[in-house]
This record gives sequence, C-alpha cells and structure tokens, in this order.
Amino acid sequence: MKQLQTRLTLIIFGIFFTGWIICGLSIWGLEYSGARKDIIRKATLLLETAAATRDYTSNQVQPQFALLTEDKSRENVLNLADRNQEVPEFSKITVPSYAAQQILNQLGTTKENKGYTYRENAINPTNRKDLAVGWEVEIIEYFAKNPNIKEKIGERLDLISGQKTLYMAKPIQITKSSCLVCHGKPENAPPSLIKTYGSENGFGWKLNEIVGTRIISVPTVVQYQEAQKSVGSYLLAIASVFLVAYTTVLLIVQKWITKPLDTITQLLEEISLHQLERSQLPEDKSNSLSPLNKAINRLLISLNKALEADKK
Ligand code: HEC
Repeated sequence: MKQLQTRLTLIIFGIFFTGWIICGLSIWGLEYSGARKDIIRKATLLLETAAATRDYTSNQVQPQFALLTEDKSRENVLNLADRNQEVPEFSKITVPSYAAQQILNQLGTTKENKGYTYRENAINPTNRKDLAVGWEVEIIEYFAKNPNIKEKIGERLDLISGQKTLYMAKPIQITKSSCLVCHGKPENAPPSLIKTYGSENGFGWKLNEIVGTRIISVPTVVQYQEAQKSVGSYLLAIASVFLVAYTTVLLIVQKWITKPLDTITQLLEEISLHQLERSQLPEDKSNSLSPLNKAINRLLISLNKALEADKK
C-alpha cells in the first residue's frame, strides 16, 4: 500500500507542478502585457499633454507675446540699432518646444515620478542641449525612412537615471511654414534669436522634412514589479488550494481505503497461517469496504465449514 501511495503522490505532484508552471507562465504573460498596456496608456497621455502644451504655446501664448514684445522688439531692435544700442536676448518662453519640455520635465523632479523624461530633439537643433544622441538619431532616421509610421515604442535602460524605461517616440515634421521663420534662413529670424542662439544651429529646416523626434520615457520598474507580485500571489493561492485538496484526499484514502485494506491483508495472512477460526473482518457501516468485508467473512465461514466437513 505504501508503494502505491508513493507512486500516486509522485504522479499527482508531477501533474500539479507541470500545471502550476504552465499557469504561472500564462498568468505572467497576461500580467506583463497588462502592465505594458498600462505604461503605454500613460506614455500616450503624456505625449498628448506635451502636444497640447505645444499647441497652447504656439496658438495662444506666441501671438500675444508677439503683440506685446516681438513686434515691439523688432521696432525696438531698429530703434536700438539706430541708437547703436544692444539687441535684447530672445525670450524662449514663447517657443512651443521649450514650453512642452519645461512642463513635462517638471514631472520627473518629484521622487514618485523619478525617471519620467520628455525630450524634443533634432539632428540640427537650435539649442545644443536638444541635439539627438545615438539611439535618438536612429529613431529619427527610422521615421525619415518610413514616413508612414507615426509612432515607435521600445524599452531601454536609461543610463542617466539608471532606470528601465519604456519610450514612445513620434516624428517632428515641419508642417507649417510659420516654423520656418525661426528655423528656415537665419536672415529671416528675429535678431534677438540670432543674438541668443547664433546663426549656425537650428536653421535650414525644410517644409515637410522630419527634423527630429518627440520622446516620452516612462519608468517600468514599479509596474512590472506589481505584475510579478500578483503572479506570485496567484501561484501561492493555486498551491494552497492544491495542498489542502491533496491533504484531504490523502487522509480520506488512508481512513477509508488504506487502513481497511491493511486489515484485510492482515486477515489473509492469518488465514494463510491456518488461524481461521478467530479471524473476522469488521462489518460496521463506517467502514467503506464493509460490503467487501461481509463477502470475505461469508467466504471464510463457507471455507471453515468446508474444511471442517473435510476433517470429519
Ligand atoms: C519664434 C521663433 C520660433 C518659431 C516660430 C518656432 N521655433 Fe522651434 N525653436 C525656437 C527656439 C529658440 C528653440 C530653442 C529653444 C530652447 O532653448 O530650448 C526651438 C526649438 C525647437 C525644437 C527643439 C530642437 C531644437 O532645435 O532645439 C523643435 C523640435 C522645434 N523648435 C520645432 C519647431 C516647430 C515644429 C515649429 C513650428 C510649429 C517651431 N519650432 C517654431 C524658435 C522657434
């Protein structure tokens, strides 16, 4: 009986572990893709927020500012030039790209949101801090080669924050000729811009050209850790249910099958040693093998009778 029990235990545990691992893998697949979708939703929302900031700055702030300062500054520039006075510095708070980067990068300054970054970069930027680096250049080239693709998503280790991040990139294409005032020919740009940024960088952009990319990076660690934790709790729950079920079945088998069968085996051994007269099996109802016991008891009585008849 012991051997049978060990074999059964091995088979049941074998089946359980295989199922457990398959369950674990498929739950991990579901949890991981759920977490990734969540991160992508966040990234999309933030990228749209950046686009909204850009639109707000170029549609509402820039015209107001132009009325208040730029026009005046142009007049002033002429007046100042007449008077041999200095051209004022360019006020970058009206630049859509600057506004969007400033606002979105505020996010990453808090402890909870460490690792969130937003960048608008270009191969030939006005501000050198926006110069595209290795992986960003690859993305810009990818968009330039595939003009129909409007979005690229990937995961990478951000070396600056040391965080694993998911990035979502969109191409920056020059769709309005108004952009070319400051990014076309240096001679058309506001003198204050030339004064602040020089006439070397960020010029020569063309209409419809893909000049750069907007990239939002969202840290993935917290989300993936949560996914891992919930896979762990699912596996623990499945294992506990299995262990409770297994122990219960084991106890039932021991009480109702193994023990009664042991008694029968013992009896049959006694019979084989010719101690027939005293041997009887219990027939109470609590015994699950009671019909079998009854049958064996009848068989023993008949056997005894036959043997006794033989003796006479
Ligand atoms: C009034 C001038 C002006 C206009 C108009 C303008 N920009 Fe810029 N742009 C700038 C300046 C100045 C910077 C650098 C800001 C900074 O210091 O971060 C800049 C930066 C950028 C950047 C970031 C890379 C870089 O060059 O530093 C992108 C991308 C960009 N602009 C795209 C556009 C697009 C697209 C438009 C049209 C919708 C546009 N700009 C209109 C002045 C302008």
